Amino acid sequence: VIDIRTLYRDTGAFTYDPGFTSTASCSSRITFIDGDKGILLYRGYPIEQLAEKCDFMEVCYLLLHDELPNGRQMQEFVNDITYHTMVHDQLTGFYKGFRRDAHPMATLVAVVGALSAFYHHELDIRCPIDRNLSAIRLIAKMPTIVAMSHKYSIGMPFMYPQNKLGYVENFMYMMHATPCEDYVQNPVLVRAMDRILILHADHEQNASTSTVRLAGSSGANPYACITSGIACLWGAAHGGANEAVLRMLLEIGDVSKIGEFINKAKDKNDPFRLMGFGHRVYKNYDPRAKLMRETCHEVLTELGLHDDPLFKLALELERIALEDDYFIEKKLYPNVDFYSGIVMRALGIPTVMFTAIFAMARSIGWIAHWDEMISDEEQKIGRPRQLYKGHTLRDVVSISAR
Ligand code: ACO
Repeated sequence: VIDIRTLYRDTGAFTYDPGFTSTASCSSRITFIDGDKGILLYRGYPIEQLAEKCDFMEVCYLLLHDELPNGRQMQEFVNDITYHTMVHDQLTGFYKGFRRDAHPMATLVAVVGALSAFYHHELDIRCPIDRNLSAIRLIAKMPTIVAMSHKYSIGMPFMYPQNKLGYVENFMYMMHATPCEDYVQNPVLVRAMDRILILHADHEQNASTSTVRLAGSSGANPYACITSGIACLWGAAHGGANEAVLRMLLEIGDVSKIGEFINKAKDKNDPFRLMGFGHRVYKNYDPRAKLMRETCHEVLTELGLHDDPLFKLALELERIALEDDYFIEKKLYPNVDFYSGIVMRALGIPTVMFTAIFAMARSIGWIAHWDEMISDEEQKIGRPRQLYKGHTLRDVVSISAR
């Protein structure tokens, strides 16, 4: 790693690195990735161990506080979160301004952005108490806001949070329960959703997290910054890929058509890419994809869907791609999004909600990075340079003479 902070001051030169392929924009203590070995650590703990031994609330605490909680700390944290699960009644009115068929990410951008209009008296970014409160509010309210987006889109009444339930159970309740019947939780499905949240919780300086940091570097409030992250996540090259994977699998439809789609993905004149394949950092199997594939097995078995044609198609697509020279040479492996859509579909979640659930999970990572950045005395406003390729100096000719 070369520290080039004085390059411009001393020589007037700067580096050109579109897409930041080899530029660290910050230092961080939160998440470590070794893309060649397929290793992912949150605060030093392997993702495999966290997925096996912890729940999402413990992971949230870890990402925010650098250590796993003991029993007392966990209880206090969960109490804080459950205290803030409700949203202001006036916020619920926002949804009525949207078309029912609006994409949930569109409503999410608007509603999360609006949170800063409700808590403006507690938004001093230099005050650790305010920063912590914003983090707690965000983690607590995201499931409520996401579930409300879903209920609004299907024309059903909002289900208010049930604070006697755990974080994930509460989310599943708000998504699936209706006022007219009892809702019974299935612990295998609850655990699967918990795992989805853990695996998506953070991933160091990805596009959306970098966007949150850039927005935050100007001193913008945390809800405004998280909203910028949600907008960035929406793109198909990033969080929108989980939705795109499922649509792609449905389009392929049958194992016999896999070859055709692999050839399309390899064709340089065709913009099509195999969605859920490839990653900027992983040049090996994404460890989250392995865990997601396992979860897929568990959920489908629990639901008696072990012959699910979509899962079989995905497994076969993976097998064929991993034996293909193009994918081998470019080191393209399945990423986390490849199997997450199949799991969410089995959990009864509509495809348009996939990226919104990713946003709910990633909110903890975004807020942890935002907080780390605000606390970092070395952090300056993010202000990349550019390589200007436009016109050289020229004179304006008045409109009558043009
Ligand atoms: N299918 C076919 N070819 C691919 C794919 C793919 N999924 N991904 C990359 N390639 C090829 C590119 O065409 C390029 O080929 P070239 O060198 O001949 O030009 C080469 O592999 C490198 O690809 P880049 O786009 O330069 O790699 P980059 O690191 O910029 O992009 C990305 C990574 C965006 C994830 C890319 O692999 C992709 O578009 N994948 C599909 C979308 C996807 O699954 N996104 C989810 C990412 S994970 C997440 O956000 C949670």
